[in-house]
Amino acid sequence: MKFTAPRGTHDLWGDQAKKLRKLEEICRDVFLRYNFSEIVTPTFEDASLFIKTTGETTDIVEKEMYVFADRKGRQLALRPEGTPSIARSYIENNLAQTAGIGKFYYVGSMFRYEQPQAGRYGEDYQIGVQYFGNASAEADAEVILLARDILIRAGIKQIDIRLHSLGCENCRPAFRKALTDYFKPDGEKGKELCDDCKKRVGKNPLRVLDCKIDGHKFEDAPKMEDHLCAECRCHMGRVTSLLKDAKCEYTLDHKLVRGLDYYTKTIFEIRSSALGAQDAMGGGGRYDLLIKELGGPDTPAVGFAFGAERVIIAAEKENPDFGREQVKVIFVAASSETFYSHAFKLAEKLRNSELGGKVSIEGPVTDKSLKSQLRLADKLGASKVVIFGEDEFTRGAVAVRDMKTQEQKEIQLSEVMEAL
Ligand code: HAM
Repeated sequence: MKFTAPRGTHDLWGDQAKKLRKLEEICRDVFLRYNFSEIVTPTFEDASLFIKTTGETTDIVEKEMYVFADRKGRQLALRPEGTPSIARSYIENNLAQTAGIGKFYYVGSMFRYEQPQAGRYGEDYQIGVQYFGNASAEADAEVILLARDILIRAGIKQIDIRLHSLGCENCRPAFRKALTDYFKPDGEKGKELCDDCKKRVGKNPLRVLDCKIDGHKFEDAPKMEDHLCAECRCHMGRVTSLLKDAKCEYTLDHKLVRGLDYYTKTIFEIRSSALGAQDAMGGGGRYDLLIKELGGPDTPAVGFAFGAERVIIAAEKENPDFGREQVKVIFVAASSETFYSHAFKLAEKLRNSELGGKVSIEGPVTDKSLKSQLRLADKLGASKVVIFGEDEFTRGAVAVRDMKTQEQKEIQLSEVMEAL
């Protein structure tokens, strides 16, 4: 039987793995600049956590969760997104009291059972932040600017930031009502809905605007901005003014809904025209009610996540060399079996020297002739090869070959480190 990776998953190695680490490196650097610290939570949780938070009527919960029972029959789910786990952890570990400031970043795999296609996977790698305890527009703007900062540092120039407000518990009910009326089952629009939306509309009419099948049809549907209360309008005005001050371009997009139920006020998505149909590199928003709904203290929050694979595709399109840093290699070769252990010892010594932190030390590759080892060193892009050979060794020395100039020098073993 031949095993292959499960549908929707992929292996990463070589340059692709380097690119992921490069993006992670950029993100961690930016997170530090904005004073976010890391939080690591389990990859699976009680399934009902996601049902309660991400939302019962969302595509993610309805169709895309990997749910399984453990041996005791407990219903668990692989996390389809990061917010619920971090909100749970925030409450469970009393982070409001212990963390000082509630600014966390997270990095890890998310799992969604979806029809795999370009940019849409069963397991994707997300990098994001959650900022708890700050209700001000400054926190929203900080999170959006942090996201933009990461993309700029990854060399991405085509950044399309879409912004919208979903209102709050005071103004959203009137919008929901307007939408429910607009989509009433016996009305013209209600009849046009797809089967899923016909079921959803009573419970969560906003979902219809986000529907992949017929969400685009309803241009004249009621708009949230016509229903925003004074506070939400003022909050949005402040966010946009902060973004303008920071010279951050954005588009107000009244069609933006986001496929998760917990958002209040600001939502945003960051798209790239370098991507295909799945053009969202990342998205997020404010979720001021979630912590309380989960039984925690009344805590405003805002966050976002990038899909790392999509950001990397966008980065590669604009900068083909993204993450492709050449690591320097020094190769230690042995001309015969007599010198295997000498070469092995020197390689170990070099790895543990100052040099080891800057270059990779390879060798000796003991099943190969000296000629083959030199060929391999060339293939690996080694800058120098240290050769243990009969003649030099009798003089307490080795040969050091510069692979670029092919020049070879005899160096005393005691002076090899300096020569390299
Ligand atoms: P999301 O928009 O569902 O938000 O996912 C964030 C990003 O992850 C998307 O913009 C996309 O780039 C990537 N992504 C999502 N699903 C897939 C997939 N199946 N394949 C490839 N990439 C994917 C969230 O998950 C929220 N938890 C973000 C957030 C944090 N909101 C507040 N805090």
